[in-house]
Amino acid sequence: MTEDNYQYACSYSELKEKSGKRIFVDDEEIAVFKVEGNVYAFSNICPHQKTHLMHEGFVEDRKLFCPVHGWSFDLQTGNISPIRKGLTTYPVKIVDGDIYIKISKKEFNW
Ligand code: FES
Repeated sequence: MTEDNYQYACSYSELKEKSGKRIFVDDEEIAVFKVEGNVYAFSNICPHQKTHLMHEGFVEDRKLFCPVHGWSFDLQTGNISPIRKGLTTYPVKIVDGDIYIKISKKEFNW
């Protein structure tokens, strides 16, 4: 883990253009995509029927499509539309050819 709570995810060279990779960071299941040189990290769990297949989704027109029923999510925000939330997204940084993802700690309010 880095000072700013980013955690190692994978090497940039492991990612194929517009093809997802499933990884686990800090017990979170994450779908990572490389698109035109940028790297995006999403929850791997589709909010529609909670399937764990977003890493098998496809990218088109700046959107990530779920492979199960085709719901689409904005690449940048994960939102379904400007007023409807969708997939959780995670901050990503690339350092020396490695991908780091920031996972926010869950806080419980009992
Ligand atoms: S499970 Fe993803 S669109 Fe239905």
